[in-house]
Order: sequence, then C-alpha cells, then structure tokens
Amino acid sequence: MLLNLTINGLKKELLIADDEYLLDVLRKAGYLSVKRGCDTGSCGLCTVLVDDKPVLSCSTLAARVNNKKITTIEGVPEEAERFAHFMAAEGAEQCGFCAPGFTLTVLAMMKEYDNPTDDEIMHYLNGNLCRCSGYVSQLRAIKNFMEAEKSNENSK
Ligand code: FES
Repeated sequence: MLLNLTINGLKKELLIADDEYLLDVLRKAGYLSVKRGCDTGSCGLCTVLVDDKPVLSCSTLAARVNNKKITTIEGVPEEAERFAHFMAAEGAEQCGFCAPGFTLTVLAMMKEYDNPTDDEIMHYLNGNLCRCSGYVSQLRAIKNFMEAEKSNENSK
C-alpha cells in the first residue's frame, strides 16, 4: 500500500507491505535515530511521536498511521540539543542509545503537563528504559530543563 505521512514537517509517500511495522518503515526511509531494542513493546527505544503523542513504533503497524504526523528526533534538533545539555550536566547521559525515544517522550510530556509532579514525570516515562544511568539523575535533568524552558518562554 501507499502510505502518506508527514515526517518532521515534510510530506512523504512510502510504499509499504500491509504488515510492516512503523519502526522498519522509518528506518528504511533513513530515520536511523529510531532505535530497535526489545522489539516487543517493552523498552521504549523505538518511541516516535504520532500526532504529538509518544508511540512505540515497533508495535505499531505502519498502515495505522496513514495520513498522520510523525516526529522523530531529527525533527526537533534544537530542543533535543538543549535537553542533552541538561542530561549531561546531571550525568544522566551515558551510552545514548535510549536518548532519542526518551527525549521525544519528555517533549511530549511537556506539551501535556504544565507542572508535572515527580510521580507524574516518572509515570509518563515509565516505558522508557535506560540500562546505564539511574532514573534519579534523569528526573533532575528533566526538572531543570522544564524550568529553563519555562523561563526562556516567559522572557520572550
Ligand atoms: Fe519498541 Fe523496545 S523496541 S519498545
């Protein structure tokens, strides 16, 4: 089938098999930031945004996202870079394999919540596993990032 998508703001037409998963379709199309981890919907590495909501691309049939808006980390380079500085400052950035999916989930959470509590943050990020760092340093980085983004927003 012919899949119509808007990926990172660009309209794309991709020829896919009916049973292909979004992860494979995106990687074949060159979006190599979309990582394969468990391939069973458990680790969150393959997370992309579909209409601004985090979705596990390894468990989503590509045909189901026809005509939708897809965001990969390539589509949000400035936000991703700003967030990476906060992760590094807290020692929460290590091998980086989980970073694209994790970052997209954080950005989606910030659109949904104005002032999330620690529990809400941890709950939102529940499906994004990191084998290297502890989650406490990630939590500090996220909170510092949210605060900095808000004060940037307020000073505009
Ligand atoms: Fe999709 Fe692990 S690769 S959740």
